[in-house]
Amino acid sequence: MQIKHKIPFIFTIRQAISEDIEQILRLDNEVWQDFPATEKMISSRIEIFPEGNLVAVYRDKIVGYLCLQFINYNLEDHPPFTWNEITDYGTLCSSHNLNGEYMYGVAMTVSPKFQNFNIATRLMFAGWSIIVKYNKRGCMLGSRIPNFFDVKDKYSPEEYIHLKRADGKLSDDELRLYDSDGFKIICALPNYETDPESCNYGVLVYQANPFYNKGFNALRKLLSIILAKWGHKILGV
Ligand SMILES: CC(C)(COP(=O)(O)OP(=O)(O)OC[C@H]1O[C@@H](n2cnc3c(N)ncnc32)[C@H](O)[C@@H]1OP(=O)(O)O)[C@@H](O)C(=O)NCCC(=O)NCCS
Repeated sequence: MQIKHKIPFIFTIRQAISEDIEQILRLDNEVWQDFPATEKMISSRIEIFPEGNLVAVYRDKIVGYLCLQFINYNLEDHPPFTWNEITDYGTLCSSHNLNGEYMYGVAMTVSPKFQNFNIATRLMFAGWSIIVKYNKRGCMLGSRIPNFFDVKDKYSPEEYIHLKRADGKLSDDELRLYDSDGFKIICALPNYETDPESCNYGVLVYQANPFYNKGFNALRKLLSIILAKWGHKILGV
């Protein structure tokens, strides 16, 4: 995982609890003004898979939120899907499967005032301790492509998602985040979600779990605890 910025303030990452719902909703409304999550979605996610709901907290204020679930999916054929289909309309009711082979990123939100300080990277890193603990094959998610709208007449979505800047890094702000964190592009997902900036496209990205089926169960659980507690310090994230 690449180190991007030094964090000028101390924030903690912990599992979300039902008392956090109001603050998570406020954060979601701040970021997703046109399509905010509902109270039903957040409470359902915390009820169905509490461990998969992580918040970044700065001085008692929730400034980041990550929601994860486990699913089965044919990664080889990668059939298309929408966000509503893969997350059961953001509730996880029928989509989360504890025995699913893969982890799926349902939602990630960082308060605009706190963006670009590695909070998303740290949240994803905390998610990895869950993947290791449950011995999943890897993690996938549907990235937005917020810079696509501006160049949609110049490039097809398939061309755009591989487009690089002069420094060799991916052109799109959000794809670049996942790329620098080790995710690989699988395919474009038309009509993934209502998102004018991305022209309603999502991009399926995937990263394999290097510890999948390695060592004993107890060893992986220990590694997961180490990753959750000190992983970011070890990697300097
Ligand atoms: C995408 C998002 C979660 C990143 O959070 P963050 O804490 O700022 O991310 P980090 O500090 O760990 O990483 C910074 C990287 O994020 C990406 N990024 C920064 N601002 C972004 C933005 N407004 N939109 C998309 N990606 C952005 C860039 O790749 C940046 O790396 P760079 O410095 O090389 O340009 C945050 O910008 C956000 O909440 N955006 C709106 C909601 C959203 O798109 N969520 C993801 C749904 S798939």
